[in-house]
Amino acid sequence: MNSLEVSNLKIWDSRTGKVLVPHSSFHVKQRSCLAIVGESGSGKSLTCRAIMRLNKALLHQSGEILLQGVNLTKLSEKEMRKKRGKQLCMIVQNGMRAFDPSCVVGVHLKETLAWHYGWGRDDITVKMKRAMESVMLKDPLAIMNSYPHQLSGGMLQRVMIALAIVLEPDVVIADEPTTALDTITQFEVIEQFIQLRTRMNCAMIFVSHDLAVVKRIADEMLVMKDGAIVERGATRDIFSAAQHEYTRFLVSTGLTLDHHFNKIMGGVSHAEC
Ligand SMILES: Nc1ncnc2c1ncn2[C@@H]1O[C@H](COP(=O)(O)OP(=O)(O)O)[C@@H](O)[C@H]1O
Ligand SMILES: [Mg+2]
Repeated sequence: MNSLEVSNLKIWDSRTGKVLVPHSSFHVKQRSCLAIVGESGSGKSLTCRAIMRLNKALLHQSGEILLQGVNLTKLSEKEMRKKRGKQLCMIVQNGMRAFDPSCVVGVHLKETLAWHYGWGRDDITVKMKRAMESVMLKDPLAIMNSYPHQLSGGMLQRVMIALAIVLEPDVVIADEPTTALDTITQFEVIEQFIQLRTRMNCAMIFVSHDLAVVKRIADEMLVMKDGAIVERGATRDIFSAAQHEYTRFLVSTGLTLDHHFNKIMGGVSHAEC
């Protein structure tokens, strides 16, 4: 059974009429991980945010998005808010942006969990502490009492993974969750994503420009180019015999696709495959 089914998703800029994603259809099977790869600007984040219904208001979308059979496009914003977090959890590139800079991290965690589940403070602290320890965060109570800027990018991503563990969503959407991290931290955080999947049996969409990571984590993958899906299939089949010329190019070159990332890292590829 599919956890998520996206049919004929179209996204366009209502100011200019420019179509950014012409028509995407794909699904994510229960308990499986679908990777979305493609270079910068290919429409990966727009697609993820369209599923969450979090694109800017000027970006319009059409098509159907079914989460466990429920059509998200038909829900009111209030109903959609109940789905976000509890059933559909998004982890973004910059952990810092996910938190309110003026509050300690624990406030965000407690608000989110109290809103979705109605749990009390102490209950939330116990659940979060356990989940944070399981993603190798030492001293969870000190972390919950820290402001986001006092924590490293890797710690913030792990706090988000711990929150997802407690929320138990049906689908986790991770949009380049390790791009902003150094290589060693990236490796550690990827391990936690892999464990998140096995521990929670949730489905996952994992966006990455790093094919080495995709090869480790994803069962299936989509390759996007200029808003369109140009290739799809089982990860191992695509790595061994990509059909599309563009995918063959990606697999054969460097394996790290984000040119900007490459540039700021001094042109060095951090992926090994
Ligand atoms: N808010 C926006 N308004 C107009 N165009 C946008 C907006 N956000 C993204 N785009 C355009 O949509 C395309 C895909 O963007 P995005 O999904 O962010 O790419 P990526 O694959 O790097 O995640 C890009 O050409 C980008 O310029
Ligand atoms: Mg993006």
